[in-house]
Amino acid sequence: MAKRTAGKNQQRAGSRPVPLVDPASSVKPQAARYLWLAVASMLIVALGLTWYFNRAEQAVEAAVVKPTVNASYVGGKRCISCHADQAKAWSGSDHDLAMQVANEKTVLGNFDNAHFSYADVSSRFFKRDGRFFVSTDGPRGVVADFEIKYTFGVRPLQQYLIELPGGRLQAFGIAWDARTREQGGQRWFHLYPKDALKAGDALHWTGVNQNWNFMCSECHSTALAKNYDSKNETFNTTWKEINVSCEACHGPASSHLAWAEKPKTERDTSSEKAWSMP
Ligand code: HEC
Ligand code: HEC
Ligand code: HEC
Repeated sequence: MAKRTAGKNQQRAGSRPVPLVDPASSVKPQAARYLWLAVASMLIVALGLTWYFNRAEQAVEAAVVKPTVNASYVGGKRCISCHADQAKAWSGSDHDLAMQVANEKTVLGNFDNAHFSYADVSSRFFKRDGRFFVSTDGPRGVVADFEIKYTFGVRPLQQYLIELPGGRLQAFGIAWDARTREQGGQRWFHLYPKDALKAGDALHWTGVNQNWNFMCSECHSTALAKNYDSKNETFNTTWKEINVSCEACHGPASSHLAWAEKPKTERDTSSEKAWSMP
């Protein structure tokens, strides 16, 4: 195949007058033409691909990143009446369950005096007055009881957040494998099984790398504000919704609501997207 083409090229080159080129040029005229053709078609393909992906990206952006001038958050509950299908699809999803207050319904792990040993510490998971605790090594390596405040993530594993002074929430290093028993789940395990992490290590659950405010919060909740006070080294972190709700992706929706709640005939349809309507 390659041979045939080469032969054809030679034939053609022979039947044509040799174009004027710099004799010093190392590229033969016919080869130069094919080189230009190749470069040109590569450029066209590249431009085409750029256009195609830009368009696809814009389509997603149109639905997701809205101009949010002056708009404020209204809460995902406000969307249900008009977007029941999306609300139903979202409800119970990983986004819905990205972070939850710890209680009987949300905690998946075994807190019936389950033990787990790691780095010479035997941690114990237990319940007291309907609340969830772990007895484990704390900020100075001293074993104490710590309350589980929130669940974090849900599948295939669930992590737990513990409150430390200064408004800090910390992601605990022993996580619950939420898969079924058949899949090897329904057990506690450590996220860094080989490191034998101790207090003082940045990766220990009390360390800076497991600090929720700084490391995790923004992706798992809606309209999160870290509110770090550098003078006192404290956090006053807030969210509009604890989980990844509608407006986490679609942006604050007050102007969309104002637009949508108008009678159809009074809506400004000049913007079919209707997100940035005042
Ligand atoms: C009073 C009814 C109403 C409420 C409440 C409402 N919407 Fe809408 N929404 C509409 C209408 C009407 C449209 C445009 C027609 C359509 O695509 O269904 C729309 C379109 C959208 C679109 C698609 C826009 C596009 O670019 O195609 C998104 C995303 C959206 N709404 C998100 C939300 C979110 C998030 C909430 C809650 C914070 C919400 N809506 C609340 C009526 C409403
Ligand atoms: C950049 C955004 C982002 C940050 C930062 C982030 N997460 Fe996540 N997290 C995600 C997303 C997206 C998923 C869902 C992943 C999936 O379903 O594959 C997820 C899922 C999880 C899960 C569920 C299990 C899983 O693998 O799906 C856990 C547990 C979790 N995150 C813990 C944390 C902790 C702890 C931190 C901070 C140390 C953190 N995440 C920081 C985006 C983030
Ligand atoms: C994790 C991000 C995310 C969350 C959370 C989310 N959406 Fe969306 N939504 C999207 C994306 C991305 C699209 C575009 C999907 C597409 O083009 O296929 C979309 C599309 C839509 C549309 C346009 C019609 C459609 O189905 O394509 C509506 C309406 C909508 N979402 C409403 C909601 C509502 C209401 C909620 C909360 C109950 C919600 N979304 C939560 C990312 C999200």
